[in-house]
Amino acid sequence: MAGTRPPSTRWTLLLSLVILLGCLIGHGVAVKHENFKKCSQSGFCNRNRAFADDVSAKGSSWSSPYELELSSIHFKDGQLQGTILKTISAEEKVRLPLTVSFLESGAARVVVDEEKRLKGEIELRHNSRARKERYNDIEKWVIVGDLELSKAATLSPEAADGYTKIMYGPENQFQAIIRHAPFGIEFQRDGETHVQLNNKGFLNLEHWRPKVDAPEGTEGAQGDDQSTWWEETFGGNTDSKPRGPESVAMDITFPGYNHVFGIPEHADSLSLRETRGGSGNHDEPYRMYNSDVFEYELNSPMTLYGSIPLMQAHRKGSTVGVFWLNAAETWVDIVKSGSSNPLALGIGGKTDTQSHWMSESGQIDLFVFLGPTPQDITKTYGELTGYTQLPQHFAIAYHQCRWNYVTDEDVKDVDRNFDKYQIPYDVIWLDIEYTDDRKYFTWDPMTFPNPIGMEEQLDESERKLVVIIDPHIKNQDKFTISQELKSKDLATKNKDGEIYDGWCWPGSSNWVDCFNPEAIKWWISLFKYDKFKGTLSNVFIWNDMNEPSVFNGPETTMPKDNLHHGNWEHRDIHNVHGITLVNATYDALLERKKGEVRRPFILTRSYYAGAQRISAMWTGDNQATWEHLAISIPMVLNNGISGYPFAGADVGGFFHNPSKDLLTRWYQAGIWYPFFRAHAHIDTRRREPYLIAEPYRSIITQSIRLRYQLLPAWYTAFHEASVNGTPIVRPQYFVHPADEAGFAIDDQLYLADTGLLTKPVVSEGVVTTDIYLADDEKYYDYFDYTVYQGAGKRHTVPAPIEKVPILMQGGHIIPRKDRPRRSSGLMKWDPYTLVIVLDKQGEAEGTLYVDDGETFDYERGAYIHRRFNFRESTLSSEDIGSKGPKTAAYLKTMADVRVEKLVIIDPPQEWQGKTAVTVIEEGAKAASTAAMEYHGQSHGKAGYAVVKNPNTGIGNTWRIEF
Ligand code: NOJ
Repeated sequence: MAGTRPPSTRWTLLLSLVILLGCLIGHGVAVKHENFKKCSQSGFCNRNRAFADDVSAKGSSWSSPYELELSSIHFKDGQLQGTILKTISAEEKVRLPLTVSFLESGAARVVVDEEKRLKGEIELRHNSRARKERYNDIEKWVIVGDLELSKAATLSPEAADGYTKIMYGPENQFQAIIRHAPFGIEFQRDGETHVQLNNKGFLNLEHWRPKVDAPEGTEGAQGDDQSTWWEETFGGNTDSKPRGPESVAMDITFPGYNHVFGIPEHADSLSLRETRGGSGNHDEPYRMYNSDVFEYELNSPMTLYGSIPLMQAHRKGSTVGVFWLNAAETWVDIVKSGSSNPLALGIGGKTDTQSHWMSESGQIDLFVFLGPTPQDITKTYGELTGYTQLPQHFAIAYHQCRWNYVTDEDVKDVDRNFDKYQIPYDVIWLDIEYTDDRKYFTWDPMTFPNPIGMEEQLDESERKLVVIIDPHIKNQDKFTISQELKSKDLATKNKDGEIYDGWCWPGSSNWVDCFNPEAIKWWISLFKYDKFKGTLSNVFIWNDMNEPSVFNGPETTMPKDNLHHGNWEHRDIHNVHGITLVNATYDALLERKKGEVRRPFILTRSYYAGAQRISAMWTGDNQATWEHLAISIPMVLNNGISGYPFAGADVGGFFHNPSKDLLTRWYQAGIWYPFFRAHAHIDTRRREPYLIAEPYRSIITQSIRLRYQLLPAWYTAFHEASVNGTPIVRPQYFVHPADEAGFAIDDQLYLADTGLLTKPVVSEGVVTTDIYLADDEKYYDYFDYTVYQGAGKRHTVPAPIEKVPILMQGGHIIPRKDRPRRSSGLMKWDPYTLVIVLDKQGEAEGTLYVDDGETFDYERGAYIHRRFNFRESTLSSEDIGSKGPKTAAYLKTMADVRVEKLVIIDPPQEWQGKTAVTVIEEGAKAASTAAMEYHGQSHGKAGYAVVKNPNTGIGNTWRIEF
């Protein structure tokens, strides 16, 4: 028949079409789901979800079997102790020691253990050497803050039958109401309940029991499905589970809260979704099991490389949080209920958010924070787990990375090209190929014959080098480091106590066990200049693959029955594994040679709570797609509110080649990541900014320069994070906690409290961006001062490809350095510009923090910390730092660093015609004047005034009268 092709041709056409389609949509698909467990494939998750379903189905006929034994309750010095009894049968009750501590910081801590295991009265199967206790050492890696018990916490005299009440917190406004049977706790602030433990009855601590083989043919007759109790197999790997089932789980409800945030790392929205199915929801719980997930997918609760089990619940007028301190595999289900008005979309309606936490092993150990502000949560959490490290100044500038710069000459060439095209950068990175055959601490002699020469060239413009050092050590007898690792017995063991061998970049590898204090000492020794030859003091470290990633291991990591120092099973410590390595590397970099103490810089892929004290993180192997660019914003924001603000994503996307548009937009977004680094996979085309055709090259250059211009503001923000935990880039709810319409907004961000608000363009072909304004303050376009005003709505801001859309909120003073340089190190002595953005009252305020950006001298007063104020036509600079032994000497070094320019946005019209201002500087013989130019407003753009060279010292006290 005419028009009909023979079947074979049709098939070929169809096949070609399928292949073509595959190529077109090839990017961005492809996570191998079969390599990672779903909840139903993870025995304990499945069991606990089933348990929760069962409890919910039984409704009021169900009674949780946990009861706090009345006679055991004892309260003293801010701490309650007692024993929870878990009823198994009329004859059998399992004893679970309970400790509730009320801390001076206002946090409360609840710990539940298992007596039998504490006492070592259990038997392990398979002659295992593993520890018998539930893992109780995690505090050592995570908690640095004061756990001092509150002296003011008191047992309430009005305790009703069946309850014990403790008043605690600031002015005893908090209350913990402990219900004895079934056991549960309600946490109240000012008489209102904010957090409920075991309110739904999902508390489940799988107690130890011996394996009793059921007589043949009667398996399952006892009612319990034991199929995952004693052994679990996944992807061909069998976990021997020498202690049998041992999970801990509990429901935590936030009554009246519609939004929960936190529990990174997931490629998902900032406001966490429900996880029990339904439109727009997930079907799976959020998982935290640090993993190397190849080509990870977006909008997913799948686990990624790091985890921080801190969740905060937010509603108008209140933020509260819980921190679930457990390093084992953990899943969290989220369900919301009870919105009185479904059309309210959570605004105004009353919703309860219920979370269900499930961990495979360990104790129940959780902290409750009662807020009431988002800042209170990040502060109290930071007090506990440590604030972010104040990084070296170079670390907050631009980093240039790819897998790989192939020779030392290549590195030098890239370095020269940045200069040739006048693009600033501070750090160039070397991925694994610099090593000799993937042996860390060595250089490939063919491709990097002269690393010192290369580092010296970088140093000429104050630039640094970061090299990768992974935790897997090539298993090769003639490699000294491998020999030492084995002969000194410092490696992680398999379940039989032999050195564990797995497959990673170098092929057969062993893993340094940083749980072992001797291994830490050894690791530190490897970084000494005489050991790690070819490295100068401008070399810093990247710890990658530290989940750990094991190519042939279960779920691309180590078997759970592997053993670490002290015979803790890998199962117990998995999520903290990554930071044990980073800790050791941190100590190593602190003092590479005696007396040379400087702030370390380490980038880590795997992390846990506490990582903020020692490292920066990035979101791992993303892809060069618009969707990956978009998700990087909520991911970075989420890390910030979870106490780990030094975060970024690979600019340009790791896998595949970005279009010029995408790359350009990625730089414009990337300048807002606290950690700003471009990186690319080995198979991608080179994409250093100077290689990109015009006009993109210039546009990218301008955005990098913008980051450099604002470095004083960034460094001030890092300082603030390092002393009180506030995120460096902040989401809408954090800045406007009372504006309900903004709570779920996660595609725009504020830079600390500079008032700078940006919404990066993350879609193709878009030339405007709609920025949501919560308040009625005036906002000004960063470049041309166009005014936007109007609360509770979106404003369309032009964003053609050459423009980074940024608004400045009225009321702030933004410190800048406007002279373009090759690196941030070369800007050290440059003068400042202050941008004074007046608010509706004609006032503004801002801060600046400066130190040497390198040493720890700031701890002894070697810094400048100023508050600038504009009020009643006067700009003043006031000292808000405190003095130390090094203050005077430091100020002397800074004496010549001056303010060279003031830009006042939206000045009063009366200034028209004014041509000078009066400068009064403390210590100066007489007042002086500086010239001022006034520019009136026009076409929706605010007017501005420029004061040229007021020449006030940045570290001095002064005022300028207008
Ligand atoms: C995995 C890291 O995520 C990636 O950034 C790096 O380039 C490769 N490992 C090679 O080291």
